[in-house]
Amino acid sequence: MSRYQRSAELFQRAQASLAGGVSSNVRALAQPPLYFRSAAGTQLVDADENTYLDFTLSQGPMLLGHSPPAVLEFVSRTLRDGQLYGAQHELEIELAEQFQRHVPCAELARFCNSGFEAAHAAIRVARAATGRAKILRFEGHYHGWYDEALVSAAPSLEQAGPGDAPTPVLGSAGQLASASADVIVLPWNDADLLRGTLERQGSEIAAVIMEPVMCNNACIPPQPGFLQATRDFCTEHGVVLVFDEVITGFRLDLGGAQSYFGVTPDLATFGKAMANGFPIACLAGARRLMQPIADLQVNHSGTYNSNVMVTAAAYATIRELERLDYGSIHGLGETLMSGLRQRAAKAGRSVLVQGFGPVFHLAFTQRESIGDYRDCLEIDKARNSEFVDAMLDRGIRLLSRGLWYLSAAHTEADIQCALDAAEDIWSAG
Ligand SMILES: Cc1ncc(COP(=O)(O)O)c(C=O)c1O
Repeated sequence: MSRYQRSAELFQRAQASLAGGVSSNVRALAQPPLYFRSAAGTQLVDADENTYLDFTLSQGPMLLGHSPPAVLEFVSRTLRDGQLYGAQHELEIELAEQFQRHVPCAELARFCNSGFEAAHAAIRVARAATGRAKILRFEGHYHGWYDEALVSAAPSLEQAGPGDAPTPVLGSAGQLASASADVIVLPWNDADLLRGTLERQGSEIAAVIMEPVMCNNACIPPQPGFLQATRDFCTEHGVVLVFDEVITGFRLDLGGAQSYFGVTPDLATFGKAMANGFPIACLAGARRLMQPIADLQVNHSGTYNSNVMVTAAAYATIRELERLDYGSIHGLGETLMSGLRQRAAKAGRSVLVQGFGPVFHLAFTQRESIGDYRDCLEIDKARNSEFVDAMLDRGIRLLSRGLWYLSAAHTEADIQCALDAAEDIWSAG
């Protein structure tokens, strides 16, 4: 009998009532999609009572580990007094003040429910401020699944057009063809191309939006100087610079990638790690840009915005993160990264590990580095799937796309356990 028997049965049953048996398309990629019963710290328990050491952290949010008592206790205590007022409560001010204290660009904040909503709001704010329509984005970056965001997030090489002038590619059936009409796509990390495009078309461009680390594809770091050059070009051409910090926010540093790299955007979006598993997101930015929201000229609304549960979760999470030693999570992750490189080299495997301690990527490739989206298309996906499956069989859960997330709950022993399992797989041939 399969070790995933109960999950397989539940998945079979789910197909009759849930579209595709799952509630988010990316979850259908894991085969079989596992069903979980509980999670605490770094450990997950599935429906077959298998336990796993988790390096997926639910696609990133669980920076404090699963079920952190301090967050859960604060949420349940606060929630007992009321859940949603359709009005204000004091905790949302506390949360906005936490953003102001830690995030360099956060002069004003607005809360919403998911990362893609925050990106949508950022684009609207940028258009309102500049009176321009076009958005410049980068191939392979992900900003959510709404029509205008899902352009060239994961195009195939056949669709993608020339490397230095990518064709904007729609990502879903049902998207309006016009969704890409005002979207300019460039390869990331190429300051000369960006400068040239802004010199030619800057007067039509409202915003440049990017993940400051390209976490959604191979965890590609920015080239030295690229973020600052982008900052300077945007200032020169009156273009709003938006950092999508949905993954990097609170993960790379308490102040996000902008604080880690020392480059302040005009606007930034946050989600995931800001509330350790509760659905809240944030648009934060310069007062002059956020003011039209304050003046009710830019519409930003939402029934559930800053509801008590998620606001309490974010507030308590950030309070915990204020005590976190970011150096130790970076250090532990770097130990894991270098250990994986050593084990792979010892077994004669072509493996590339790149990124940062709290979030990095492991790829099966001959390349010595992956510098942009098109390099990612050369990764040996079949090898990667075999590895992820073999790790799962050894009780280690990884994301099928090769991204590894670390939490404050991971220990040296967890790292050793992952390294031993990888060595076991690679040395077996
Ligand atoms: C960088 C980035 N931006 C935006 C989003 C969308 O966030 P959400 O799934 O909360 O809508 C994601 C989701 O993975 C993301 O990785």
